[in-house]
Amino acid sequence: MPHSSSPLPPSSTLLVPEVTAVPRHIAIIMDGNGRWASKRRLPRMAGHERGVAALRGAVSACVARGVQALTVFAFSSENWRRPEEEVSFLMGLFLRALKREVRELDSHGVQLRVIGDLSAFSAALQAAIAKATETTRANTEFVLTVAVNYGGRWDMLQAMRKLLNARPELAKPNVPISEEALAPYLCLSDLPEPDLFIRTGGEQRISNFLLWQSAYTEFYFTDLFWPEFDDKALDAAILSYQQRERRFGRTSGQLAADLQDAAALPLVR
Ligand code: IPE
Ligand code: IPE
Ligand code: MG
Repeated sequence: MPHSSSPLPPSSTLLVPEVTAVPRHIAIIMDGNGRWASKRRLPRMAGHERGVAALRGAVSACVARGVQALTVFAFSSENWRRPEEEVSFLMGLFLRALKREVRELDSHGVQLRVIGDLSAFSAALQAAIAKATETTRANTEFVLTVAVNYGGRWDMLQAMRKLLNARPELAKPNVPISEEALAPYLCLSDLPEPDLFIRTGGEQRISNFLLWQSAYTEFYFTDLFWPEFDDKALDAAILSYQQRERRFGRTSGQLAADLQDAAALPLVR
């Protein structure tokens, strides 16, 4: 099915998106930093430090493999429930990592974005986020989105609030609200929906990450802790993805017929 002519990528529940061999957009729940550290009798904080290094490696590996966008979960809207000491360590780590990494990201043409409710952060962290995103705004090689104080439910609610502010008539009884109307207000609306969703750390749950955007995403779970996630682990995830049959509601028979039709087309030279 052709892509919509709108500038927004088509929603996987409205149109069948193009499937590419290499996932265009990967989403990762970077889990297991604390357990990685505990296993080595190190403080949990050491695991978070190593987590930043693993993220640096994942970005390079994705760029090298032709992936166009990576979205990572760094701090959930529920992670405020952690001990105060750990929360404040993580806030300090974000600030340090942002300041340290932005130049390198920029030199590789990476556009850095941050999604989530940023109003809960300190003025210093908000300013660093604004500066880093502004510095890399024009980059087009790769989009790295870091989700902090993000929750999939928060995302849907903030999108709905913005939509109703823009179009108050939609709040009236019996006025239908379409997916297309809401989609532009959701985080990541200008990117293709994630093709592949990876969660490290052994848990098989979504923990309030991209609830709307993963409607037809392929899920991959690994027992590796996030600091252990390397190029080989990424290749294993991509290989698993390549073996999936993405049907988007259709039957296997329909997919096979489409492939035959495509093979019958004369090659354009
Ligand atoms: C993920 O690792 C990082 C954050 C949630 C900030 P964890 O800190 O959740 O590590 P585990 O799951 O306790 O091992
Ligand atoms: C999910 O990990 C959030 C991040 C990796 C940032 P958690 O460790 O917070 O998830 P739960 O609590 O085990 O579901
Ligand atoms: Mg965890």
